[in-house]
This record gives sequence, structure tokens and C-alpha cells, in this order.
Amino acid sequence: EVPADLVGRHVVISAGGTREPLDPVRYLGNRSSGKQGYALARTAAARGARVTLVAANSVLPAPAGVDVVPVETAVQLREAVIKAAADADAVVMAAAVADFRPAVYASGKIKKRSGVDPDPVALVRNPDILAELSTDRPRAGQIVVGFAAETDDVLANGRAKLARKRCDLLVVNEVGERKTFGAEESEAVVLAADGSETPVPYGPKEELSDTVWDLVALRFP
Ligand code: C5P
Repeated sequence: EVPADLVGRHVVISAGGTREPLDPVRYLGNRSSGKQGYALARTAAARGARVTLVAANSVLPAPAGVDVVPVETAVQLREAVIKAAADADAVVMAAAVADFRPAVYASGKIKKRSGVDPDPVALVRNPDILAELSTDRPRAGQIVVGFAAETDDVLANGRAKLARKRCDLLVVNEVGERKTFGAEESEAVVLAADGSETPVPYGPKEELSDTVWDLVALRFP
């Protein structure tokens, strides 16, 4: 039996991975499948929430009853999340957002020139949406959740990231060659700003999602 503890709540979830275009045919991207964010959307809807899913380049089917806002780049994702967050009770940033984007977009396809080395690609920093939302909350009592994929010193790096980003909860995943990205299952620890740590054993992304909603619902004012 599914708890109806998110009835009357609006939750915003970002999912997928951003693409930062270099020219009309190329982009810088990442391996995020969107599965974790979509699982969060399905489970929140099942618990009664109104759900806005800001989906970056995911090919997954839209969950029933969920408002999907498709985006491509980090800048577009920021606009969509900030707009939807205005009346949200919780924001969960499950998307893999590119930290950098090409400094210039070439409006025509970049050509290879025979015998000439390619130009280096200059990058500029993207906005950190999670840090921005956590610092300037549009609503008092809004709960902000981040995700972090770490390969080493998972808990220490997660704690430092939680403090730096000022979110309420940070879901820390250990990533490796075959772990998490694109997988159906994951293992994580949910770190809270109040110091608590909730380990979530290896299992379906729905199970991790339900633990996240349990911890979010506990923190609603
Ligand atoms: O710093 P790092 O990229 O590891 O942090 C991951 C968390 O921050 C995720 O929740 C991700 O959605 C969010 N993020 C963001 N804006 C960025 C980079 C990451 O909101 N530019």
C-alpha cells in the first residue's frame, strides 16, 4: 500500500543529462539515462503529488499524470526548474548537469581541415542550479535535494558537497564502470543537513526514490 503523504504537494524533479552544443550536429554530453529522475517522478505521483519533470534529453516514456518539460542545455534546465520551483514544496535535482559548456556555438558545422590540427574547445562555467536554488529558496520551507556521483571517498566528498551546495538532502551514489549510469538499480546513502545518514541497499531506483520521498515528507514544515 502506497502512502498518500504527497497529496496537495507540488514536487519538481530534474532528470536526464544536459547536452551543450558545439555546432548544429555536435554536443558535449554525459551518460545519464534519466532512469532515477523518472523513478522519482513515478513514485511521487503514486504518493499523490503534482509532479513537474524537467527532462533533459531522455528517451524514456512520460510517466502517467506527470507534467514533462523537455529541455536540452543546462541554461534551459535552469529556466525550467526555477519557473516550476516558484510554487513547489520540494525540488529534486536528479539531472546530470554539465558543469561547463562550449564558450562559442558555431552556427555552421565545424570542418576538419586536412593537415591542420583542430582548434581547442574553450569552455565556460554553467550556473550551479542546485546551489542557486538552495541559497535563494523561492518559498520558505521548500525542501531541496541533490544527487552526487562519486568514485572515491564517497561519504566525505558527499558531506562536503552537501555543505557547499546548502541543500537539505544529498543522495550519494558510488559510480564505477557499470554502476548507476544507465542501470536499473543503484545503491546510495542519503545524507541530510541535520547530520543523519540513511543507507539504501542495492536495489531498484524506485526503492531509492521512495526513501527520498520518505525523508522529504518528514521535513515538510
Ligand atoms: O557538483 P556536482 O555536479 O557533483 O553536484 C551534483 C548535483 O548538483 C546534482 O544534484 C546536479 O543536478 C546538481 N547540479 C546543478 N547544476 C550544475 C551542476 C550540478 O544543479 N551546474
